[in-house]
Amino acid sequence: MTLKFPIFMDAQSTTPADPRVVEAMLPYFTERFGHPASRNHPFGWEAESAVDGARERLARLIGARDPKELVFTSGGTESINLALKGVAEMYREKGTHIVTTAIEQRAGMDVCKRVERQGFTVSYVPVQADGLVDVEAIRAALSDKTILISVMFANNEIGTIQNIATIGRLAKDRGILFHTDATQAVGKVPVDVEAMGIDLLSCTAHLIYGPKGVGALYVRRKGPRVRLAPLFDGGGHERGMRSGTLPVPLVVGFGRAAEICREVMPEEGARLKGLRDRLQDLILSSVDEAYLNGHPERRLPHNLNISFAYVEGESVLMGLNKETALSSGSACTSSTLEPSYVIGALGPAPSWPTPRSGSACTGSRRPRKWSTSGSARSRSSSDSVTCRLSTNWLKRVSISNRLSGKPSRRGRGPWPTATRWLTTTTIPATWGPSPRTLRAWAPAWSAPPSAATS
Ligand SMILES: Cc1ncc(COP(=O)(O)O)c(C=O)c1O
Repeated sequence: MTLKFPIFMDAQSTTPADPRVVEAMLPYFTERFGHPASRNHPFGWEAESAVDGARERLARLIGARDPKELVFTSGGTESINLALKGVAEMYREKGTHIVTTAIEQRAGMDVCKRVERQGFTVSYVPVQADGLVDVEAIRAALSDKTILISVMFANNEIGTIQNIATIGRLAKDRGILFHTDATQAVGKVPVDVEAMGIDLLSCTAHLIYGPKGVGALYVRRKGPRVRLAPLFDGGGHERGMRSGTLPVPLVVGFGRAAEICREVMPEEGARLKGLRDRLQDLILSSVDEAYLNGHPERRLPHNLNISFAYVEGESVLMGLNKETALSSGSACTSSTLEPSYVIGALGPAPSWPTPRSGSACTGSRRPRKWSTSGSARSRSSSDSVTCRLSTNWLKRVSISNRLSGKPSRRGRGPWPTATRWLTTTTIPATWGPSPRTLRAWAPAWSAPPSAATS
């Protein structure tokens, strides 16, 4: 197998469209170009039927009883906006309090800030050191005025998967609506809106090998029937919740991507987890002061997020990006040098008993090419890191730590305070393994994709 550089290891920012998805989409740009709301001729019927098919496929993937419960949007960001603002406006008379977490993706955070400016109160429940939110802390935050609980299904940086079904039950018991941003989870791990008591669920196509620019919001129709104020006015499409002509080719691609994910999820999850675990073991056993971020078990199978003490993130990023695409944080905040608020929310230092006990990585399904991706960051108070995942390079980081006089804390537990994590070692941009080194190491990761994905 020939490796093609740069290797994409940033699959929590986006994924490539599966060729089967593109193939399904193509006719809807040209010969099947009808408007799905044109009720009077076959062009419209054909388009409507394609949209209905996509709705059914997506409904099956998330366990929705009725495909009509899915509203197509332009992506995860719009879905989250529609869910949170739509509930806030529609249920304002009932209450003006929302409960969410401190590690929601930017869209969730920013919508909460906006509704706060409009008179709502938002409780940002902190997470534990492993990224899990304590359900009792959510319970404690609820009040008579709470109209919505919004908790992301799986985090886009550390991959931690929340106790969604427990939170769903709590919401139901208290008669409060429950939204989850499942953008990272749908298609990767089992999601079931019925079994998990989810009333609103946001997702997007571009993270499941579908096209960019299309997403969906699941809106429960029964028990309870959720009502939303639309974000904008217009033709009243999508049951009045999202006006505007549907991008039929994108919707068709989303449906096909959902169908493929449903078919391959068990094998793909196991395959990526195997690769991720190997990578994790390799890094944690090769590098002093490398610590896993997030929950050791409750995590997305393709996610790996690691902190390196003393390493300056941006220097490392610059040294790596010719051969390996990794990230030091969410794609929407990559233009800033601010440290990740998600990593910050985990607390000053890792608190798991041994730094080698956990795992995570961001991998992708690449039908014909090399296959996995990862993200690693420095959990310093000032910076974060993305690193080229080569043993040689990692050893160099380790050596450079020693040369710079940093004592190893291996076997002596985590650093006691965040200030101990201040980055002091700068890795020159030229540092890193040669393509030859990387090639020698990478075949372990180049296991062919499962038959189901090829
Ligand atoms: C957790 C999470 N929520 C929301 C979004 C936004 O989705 P979109 O890019 O489709 O707007 C993303 C994007 O990666 C995400 O990871």
